[in-house]
Amino acid sequence: MILSPLLFFFFSFYVLASAQPTSTAVKPPKGALTISAVDVDVDTDGNGCRPGSVAVGISEDNSLINLLFDNFQAAVGPNSGDIRKRALCKVNVTMSSPGWAFDVQTVDFRGYIKLSTGVDASLVSRWKWIDNKGVDMKGKGNMQKKLSGPLERDFLIHKDGELSDSEASVCSKASARFQLTISASLSSTSSSIEGVLKGTQDGAVDRGFSEILNLAWRKC
Ligand SMILES: *[C@@H]1O[C@H](CO)[C@@H](O)[C@H](O)[C@H]1NC(C)=O
Repeated sequence: MILSPLLFFFFSFYVLASAQPTSTAVKPPKGALTISAVDVDVDTDGNGCRPGSVAVGISEDNSLINLLFDNFQAAVGPNSGDIRKRALCKVNVTMSSPGWAFDVQTVDFRGYIKLSTGVDASLVSRWKWIDNKGVDMKGKGNMQKKLSGPLERDFLIHKDGELSDSEASVCSKASARFQLTISASLSSTSSSIEGVLKGTQDGAVDRGFSEILNLAWRKC
């Protein structure tokens, strides 16, 4: 399913409506951050993402970027079917915010995760900035969440200090590419126990798996 802009609009609204109160820190005015392209690397593993399956939105107050992955899922156990135990997705988001620079402060994930006792999950996301020639710029970070069954959840809230290897971004007059990788890996102690990570629970309207980047801004 390719996400329609309308569906994405509603999804963004949903995220905004349920987001935690944002801080009063400095933020650029509405519309100051624009996205001109979202490019997705074809995932040869199969269940991470494919072109057209990732939507990226910015909240009106520029406090967060929401990446919605329509095809991101991993599973282990007798009912996992075609879904593999690892999912990987690489996205380049071409963005511009003249006069302003942001760093990712914390990361949240929204999706459905259910792990039996004996199943572990690792959710990792990394990002860095590259210029229009593909050369690394300043500004990067990564975060990793390790989870162990038994567990059933649909929102993983950040904790302070989860980001590592982070480096502040530089101000860029031209648009630059924000390159983000997300991966999920499940491992289990036996082939008869189950674990799943995906957008929504079976039977619910599928809204994809999402990664929410909470931003800290500064003026250039
Ligand atoms: C994303 O950017 C990297 C680095 O420039 C490049 O190697 C890769 O091909 C790009 N992917 C897409 C889908 O444009």
